[in-house]
Amino acid sequence: MSGWDLLRTRAYVPYSGVPELAVAVGNDGRRYPGVRVENASFPLTIHAVQAALFGCMANGAEPVAVLLPPGVDLEAAGRWGWPVQTVETLSSRFAEVVKPEPGDPQVLKTRAVVPHSSFPVVAFVRYEAGWITGVNIEVPDWQLGLCAERIAIAIGYAHGLGAPLEWDIHAFRGDFISPCGACRQVLAEHGRNNRVRLHHPDGSMSDHSVADLLPHSFSGSHLRIG
Ligand code: THU
Repeated sequence: MSGWDLLRTRAYVPYSGVPELAVAVGNDGRRYPGVRVENASFPLTIHAVQAALFGCMANGAEPVAVLLPPGVDLEAAGRWGWPVQTVETLSSRFAEVVKPEPGDPQVLKTRAVVPHSSFPVVAFVRYEAGWITGVNIEVPDWQLGLCAERIAIAIGYAHGLGAPLEWDIHAFRGDFISPCGACRQVLAEHGRNNRVRLHHPDGSMSDHSVADLLPHSFSGSHLRIG
């Protein structure tokens, strides 16, 4: 199967049915895929270009180009600030980012891109196949950045891992770290019963379920579509 055909099967688009695909080329020579990941709360949808770029950076590489399938609106795809181009055909060999264990958060926090907040976050998410790491990435337009948790989900879908199973979230400043409301909504979309372990800056840990963190959440079942 070609790279574009493969990625089309990985997009999470239960509401629109319209997949979006992109691949970031890293300065390590690897290719980082991104797919559209929708949410019942539509504005929380993650774009394919954003997923590809941030997945590349979360793995410690710097994007040098973004590849898109033919027919994409290049101006819209360029709004994250990286050069974009269309390519007709794409190999299906992508960077290997699944790890057998979560890594060392103290090391991985250096991959967070936090020029505005100086508040790095590291999110580990486990799938059947192993662990994925997300870190938060900020860009000049604050609204276009993403939290560590949502980058981890985006990487998981783009690599065909499906829905997450459990979470470990680390932050390094403040008293009690806590996923933001938007991330709780996205975590709920992909597993309300999953455990979420919050690792606080003082070394303590608290264990929650997604449903405890976001009771009475809005979901696809509230929509006629989905
Ligand atoms: N942030 C996360 O990565 N996860 C959260 O759950 C809370 C907030 C990031 C986003 C932004 O880069 C910085 O922390 C300050 O909001």
